[in-house]
Amino acid sequence: MRMKNRAGIVTAAASGMGRAGAEMFAAEGAAVAVVDRDEAAAQEVVAGIEAAGGRAVAISADLRDVAAAKAIVAQAEEALGRIDFLWNHLGHPGPGKVEGMAQEDLSLAFDLNLRSVMATTEAAIPRIRAAGGGSILYTSSTAGLIGSRYSPVYSAMKHGVIGFAKALALRLADDNIRVNVVCPGPVMTPMFHTFGSRPDAAQKTLEEVTEATLGVVPLKRVAEPREIAAAALFLLSDEASFVTGAALPVDGGITAR
Ligand SMILES: NC(=O)c1ccc[n+]([C@@H]2O[C@H](COP(=O)([O-])OP(=O)(O)OC[C@H]3O[C@@H](n4cnc5c(N)ncnc54)[C@H](O)[C@@H]3O)[C@@H](O)[C@H]2O)c1
Repeated sequence: MRMKNRAGIVTAAASGMGRAGAEMFAAEGAAVAVVDRDEAAAQEVVAGIEAAGGRAVAISADLRDVAAAKAIVAQAEEALGRIDFLWNHLGHPGPGKVEGMAQEDLSLAFDLNLRSVMATTEAAIPRIRAAGGGSILYTSSTAGLIGSRYSPVYSAMKHGVIGFAKALALRLADDNIRVNVVCPGPVMTPMFHTFGSRPDAAQKTLEEVTEATLGVVPLKRVAEPREIAAAALFLLSDEASFVTGAALPVDGGITAR
């Protein structure tokens, strides 16, 4: 049990990688706050974890709201008794275009990729410190490591997530809080489809997006959510006890080029 006696939060946890992570952490002994704006789906994840003998609580919140993004930490601590890990998994594709992009699209991308994530982090730090230390994880992307031609705004935000995490790794080392980033390549989740269905995207259908993607993935496939969750489990657990400030690509080899 790699997460025995641990309690923490996963954001955007009602679907995709967040869901796979919440389920995996619970199976490894953690008590998990499943945070998502889709309340019914979050309850479903919790029901599945409980049916498997694990411990979890659903917290419904629209994390674009900064007050809500902070409040989830107190809510999770009240429900679980302590907080010693946080997976800030929330993110958003943002606009595909630069010329003529709508300010509202830019604001939404900033709010979900950075502002909300920083707010949750701000609330979590004193509580993880009070627990004697722990681990914070962010979700960036291959687009946070190299430029994404199709998503310049997203690429900027996800580079920012890595910068924030590296700086925090330095700042929080004395508090015994490790801070790392997982950088997924393409993963088969609803968001993968969203990247391609933006009105200004080069590819329109899931098939077209998948085909274009496979062309740049050396392993020639799209990942399953659990493959990223497994990396998240490693980085959050004591198996990564000497790993902090790292941005780990889980990308089928995309960034090896
Ligand atoms: N899917 C990919 O190919 C891919 C690749 C690299 C990085 N990422 C990153 O992974 C994360 C998304 O994960 P996924 O692909 O597992 O997504 P997903 O589409 O499976 O799930 C996203 C979840 O976020 C929730 N959500 C959306 N807006 C919210 C809000 N305002 N407040 C609270 N919850 C909200 C949704 O309800 C949903 O449950 C993002 O950080 C994204 O940038 C995804």
